[in-house]
Amino acid sequence: MKLIGVCGSPRKEGNTEIALENVLTAAQDQGVETEFVALRDYDVRGCTACLKCRETKDGTCKGREDGLDEVFRKVYKAQGLVVGSPVYFGSATPESLAFLQRLGYVARGMDENPMEGKIGAGVAVARRGGQNFTVAELEMSFGPLKMIRAGSIYWPMGFGAKQGDIRQDEEGMKTMGELGRNMAEMIKKLGR
Ligand SMILES: Cc1cc2nc3c(=O)[nH]c(=O)nc-3n(C[C@H](O)[C@H](O)[C@H](O)COP(=O)(O)O)c2cc1C
Repeated sequence: MKLIGVCGSPRKEGNTEIALENVLTAAQDQGVETEFVALRDYDVRGCTACLKCRETKDGTCKGREDGLDEVFRKVYKAQGLVVGSPVYFGSATPESLAFLQRLGYVARGMDENPMEGKIGAGVAVARRGGQNFTVAELEMSFGPLKMIRAGSIYWPMGFGAKQGDIRQDEEGMKTMGELGRNMAEMIKKLGR
């Protein structure tokens, strides 16, 4: 049983990374294996609409040679996916959306959707506003992929401007921990 955390912040050791680590640590405490992936380690860009995935139907993306297939494979094998993004001008980062849109498109192109039944959640961090919309954006593909959205005690959002500020957001950090616990419980009961 595994939960993958994908971070769409270009900033190393930033607030999104801290929020995701909190989710993953809480899931580990419930006996679920976890792995953290930073999209900044890949030169992630958006879908080229080459539609080669509709020919190969193998869940890979031939439109970009950026190594993202490696991340897709990790996600297919896991039972849960949590994606975190900072809010940039009221929205998720381009890297986060490029990852989710390409993952969704290649997965839906396969004869059997590998995302069906996986437990998913989006997590957003901002200095002041835009988290709710960003969480909704991050989770937008989960419905058509037949994934199951996990919740927490509040929307999974945090406040912080400078790296590490989110640690002062007690409720935000607690919400991340509860999300991780809940995702782990759901993965153990329903994950595939
Ligand atoms: C280009 C850019 C746009 C931003 N837009 C917003 C915004 O719309 N709302 C907000 O509250 N914070 C905004 N911020 C602040 C970040 O969301 C905030 O610093 C966040 O903690 C960054 O997360 P990170 O440490 O994981 O990179 C913006 C920051 C940058 C660099």
